[in-house]
Amino acid sequence: MSAAASPAQVLQIDERVASVVREGLGLRPKRLPAWLFYDCVGSKLFDAITRLPEYYLTRTERGIFLEASEQIIERASSGRRLRIAELGAGSADKTRLLLQAAVTRQRSVLYEPVDVSASALDLAKRRIEREIRGVTVMPRVMDYTDGDDHKFHLGPMDEDESRLVLYIGSSIGNFEPHQAARLLRRVRAGLEIGDAILLGIDLVKDEATLLTAYNDAAGVTAAFNRNVLVRLNRELDADFDVEAFAHRAVWNKAASRIEMHLESRIAQQVNIGALDFAVEFAAGETIHTENSYKYQPGQVETLLAETGFRAEATFADPRGWFAVCLGRAN
Ligand code: AVI
Repeated sequence: MSAAASPAQVLQIDERVASVVREGLGLRPKRLPAWLFYDCVGSKLFDAITRLPEYYLTRTERGIFLEASEQIIERASSGRRLRIAELGAGSADKTRLLLQAAVTRQRSVLYEPVDVSASALDLAKRRIEREIRGVTVMPRVMDYTDGDDHKFHLGPMDEDESRLVLYIGSSIGNFEPHQAARLLRRVRAGLEIGDAILLGIDLVKDEATLLTAYNDAAGVTAAFNRNVLVRLNRELDADFDVEAFAHRAVWNKAASRIEMHLESRIAQQVNIGALDFAVEFAAGETIHTENSYKYQPGQVETLLAETGFRAEATFADPRGWFAVCLGRAN
């Protein structure tokens, strides 16, 4: 019988993960991309974040949909049958409010969630078709953040149909402004004139509210941030002592963004076994893990105008904390 395989031998290395880690931990200051958060545990932690009392974003956007879903669907359709696509697997109940409004208006709706994860899409399909009568889910496995501008195509529609693409939850805020514009241009290139996009974005507000949302008392955001190290331990045979890194969330007013960092509490060396790579940390040195941009009122409309859409209507909550903007492809 052969000897048992060592962990390094059985490790299935994702080259995309390996390459961003090799590059990001070699930078000064060190960086890791925010998409690394979303492994299975990270996605569950993010779900938990959306239910935290401090994390006002999800609740506020949902309030806007509770108030305005029918109006949004009516405006978006401009007299035609709507198909609704969504960037992301769309398990959230905010999406349901819009789908339900579309079913009420046109009796049935085709829903096209777009995601890189076929399993997440499969789950969304089963759940949504079970829970909302009248919705048929057509999953689209695609990486809409991919650099190739010609890859975003959702396929043809019937003559009497138009498309509404949802990009909600302030996900666009996790991109640098130039990347956000690039992504929207790519989406626009896959649409027809008259199709629509619904963009949900968090707005600038008082600093205390912003900071508290990313420094919750229960420590869920801290666990979400540190989970990236747990992931590297598992996927790249690294030996991060996760507790030796503190969660830091700060408001960068000049750049209009919340930044998340992991700060090494001590001077230490970490080995990334699968990459045959050792990383030195000074005490207090950080890894920058996420930016979450907050927009000023009116900036979303400008972003849409710059990327091939005419901003047609903006829906906001009474406190002006969050905006949902409907753009028309022109
Ligand atoms: C997914 N995204 C919009 C969240 C945000 O608020 O930027 C991710 C997040 N990071 C920490 N808490 C939530």
